[in-house]
Amino acid sequence: MSKIASLEINGEKYEFPVIEGTENETAINIKTLRGATKGVITIDPGFKNTGSCQSAITYLDGEQGILRYRGYSIEDLAEKASFLETSYLLIFGELPSKKELETFETDIKSKYPTPDGLVKILEGFPKESHPMGILGSLTCALNAFFPECNQTNTENEVYNAITTALGQFPTLVSLALRKTQNLTQLTSDPKLGYVENIAQLLFKKEGEAYEQNQIINDALDKLLILHADHEQNCSASTVRIIGSSHASLFASLTGGINALWGPLHGGANQAVIEMLENIVNDGGDSKKYMEKAKDKQDSFRLMGFGHRVYKNFDPRARIVKKTADEVLNDLGVKDPTLDIAKALEKEALEDPYFVDRKLYPNVDFYSGIIYRAMGIPTDMFTVLFALGRLPGWIAQWKEMRTNKEPIGRPRQIYTGEKHREFVSSTVNS
Ligand code: SDX
Repeated sequence: MSKIASLEINGEKYEFPVIEGTENETAINIKTLRGATKGVITIDPGFKNTGSCQSAITYLDGEQGILRYRGYSIEDLAEKASFLETSYLLIFGELPSKKELETFETDIKSKYPTPDGLVKILEGFPKESHPMGILGSLTCALNAFFPECNQTNTENEVYNAITTALGQFPTLVSLALRKTQNLTQLTSDPKLGYVENIAQLLFKKEGEAYEQNQIINDALDKLLILHADHEQNCSASTVRIIGSSHASLFASLTGGINALWGPLHGGANQAVIEMLENIVNDGGDSKKYMEKAKDKQDSFRLMGFGHRVYKNFDPRARIVKKTADEVLNDLGVKDPTLDIAKALEKEALEDPYFVDRKLYPNVDFYSGIIYRAMGIPTDMFTVLFALGRLPGWIAQWKEMRTNKEPIGRPRQIYTGEKHREFVSSTVNS
């Protein structure tokens, strides 16, 4: 028998159906609320208690610290899958066969060439532009250079837009990096594997052949998998709501990039390293900064700590922390910010302020330390987060369009002026 929830308001009683997910999550379906109650709505700043959709892509259990893509644990995927395999899984729902993966990779590589006109846009950007601003602009510009991708009404049209996005994005990331580093532009190399190509786009030095480094490729592949999706986070929800107006995939992805840029979201990985560098430069006194983070009069926050959903360790943070140790050791890099990060983590896990609020390290706390060890500039960290999150955004957009979800249009409670007659203020003066 299906469950119901009842609500009493203004002396009237109303009943609403309850829906349950495959992991026994429960929601009250209030889609008839406003009509039935002649205008009553709910309000939930930040949507802390409100679901926007039913989704089969990613499952999080914030209390247990569980993350699964299409039912596979993040631990298994990070250890055993490739980023391209994981991208296929997120987007199409199943792990690909060898043949399916080969075809997927071939189709993506066929979309590698970036139009000269799109590269020319870079000339207008000041050198000191933030790479996320460049990435967002170039992603939106894809609409102009691949107009056929604005049509996504058939399976083939959707597949074409998806493989174009996955084919163009690594080059756009490289264009953003090399513009801000004053380096000559590079193109994607279809002879290389997907992540090997990303590595050469990021690390190839001027006038030198690029020698692949397996340590870096393995770490990059793992980091991209760890960032690939995270259910209805701020940027994924932005992609879904833009896509719900039937704006193109590239327009929706542009919104996701801009939402991710914020320091409370994906921009945190850059903010973490800047915070750790400040602490190192200020003498390395982690206790002083713990006190600042707890002081409500101080705007300082312990970046990379806390999470809307995880009230336990972010499972990705565990993997990234372990990978950071391995990569720095393998590359022979000594980084004082890693020691400070570990000291802050140890103190926070024993401090009632953090323990009571269930504030643990999140995916952004250690990831920047690995990117730094690879020689990636700090302002590129969120761009790499976007590169990893691309397949997740695509999967969320595709699911929303496949499910023919209605245009997202929240209601509000008006708190402004009541009606007043217009009297021109210029006439009186
Ligand atoms: C990502 O949603 C996702 O899934 C995102 C993400 C993904 O993969 O897409 O996981 C990626 O964005 C990770 C989060 C990266 N952001 C940061 O690391 C920035 C620092 N953290 C926060 O600003 C904060 O924890 C948020 C934004 C992540 C979550 O904020 P919430 O859920 O709105 O919680 P809150 O701000 O209401 O905090 C609850 C309490 C408050 O104290 P009280 O009012 O109860 O006294 O905890 C405090 C906050 O002041 N608090 C912190 C803190 N985070 C929360 N205090 C000090 N330092 C912090 N980092």
